[in-house]
Amino acid sequence: MKILVATEKPFSREATEGIEAIAREAGFACELLEKYTSVDELKRAVADADALIVRSDKVTAEVIEAARALKIVVRAGAGYDNLDLGACTARGIVAMNTPGQNSNAVAELAVSMMIFMARNQFTPGTGHEISGKRLGIHAYGNVGRIVARYGRALGMEVSAFDPFVTDPEVFARDGVRMVTSVRELYENSDYLSLHIPATAETKGSIGYDLLMSMPEGATLVNTARKEVIDEAGLARALAERSGLKYVTDIAPDSAAELAEKFGKRFFATPKKMGAETAEANVNAGLAAARQIVAFFKEGVTRFQVNR
Ligand code: 3PG
Repeated sequence: MKILVATEKPFSREATEGIEAIAREAGFACELLEKYTSVDELKRAVADADALIVRSDKVTAEVIEAARALKIVVRAGAGYDNLDLGACTARGIVAMNTPGQNSNAVAELAVSMMIFMARNQFTPGTGHEISGKRLGIHAYGNVGRIVARYGRALGMEVSAFDPFVTDPEVFARDGVRMVTSVRELYENSDYLSLHIPATAETKGSIGYDLLMSMPEGATLVNTARKEVIDEAGLARALAERSGLKYVTDIAPDSAAELAEKFGKRFFATPKKMGAETAEANVNAGLAAARQIVAFFKEGVTRFQVNR
């Protein structure tokens, strides 16, 4: 039984050692393919793997086709838009994620991005405090809930919207105001933290109208996915609203142009770093390895995303 850990953006050494130890204890072989630069490399390495652990690595139909022995693929992380679920299902391959395991890292980055933008990207000049400001959380999942908690701890007034969380008690017990429409959330948020997945419904859904509805001087924080932003609409809104700011952990295709045009009102990290902490690597990587062992030894399919 072979587990392949294929990570273009490698886990920390502690995490890979932990994964190898879990595999060894279960009697499985474990192979690492890190910083690979071509799909062919991935296809060659996965050819005889029974299980695959990835991060944001693209597991396309072509990769699945090459993975003749594959029974399970685990995305060590939350968003699984990088997995071709149709191709997995067609081959009877179980696809899983590891929800919650890297959430704190992403939430901390979202909060730090708000302060970074409020303080002119740490350059001289008068900035703002985020305490007392209104924070909107778009999607109240694992990351959104932590951002809400940290926002409250920093003195922010927190509201949230999630189309799938309709029980007011969930928000009330966190001291968060429940909002029942996306529009209402954006209209009332000085800081808006995005936590929606990239799906057919959400892709390109955050654009000109929503951004223009935000209060003067508002900041949109994206630690989710670049695909949910309508980039043309974003550029137009930034051009028309001189106080609007956009900070993201997933550089838009037009990042260079936006940086040049909008200066300190725009910032994108050079490479997605939300889950790049030693803690998140260990949590997500080891969870993925344990889920694989539990699947083979006990048939556990908790966290399967292609039922
Ligand atoms: C996730 O969906 O878990 C995050 O986007 C982290 O992605 P990464 O593992 O590529 O850093």
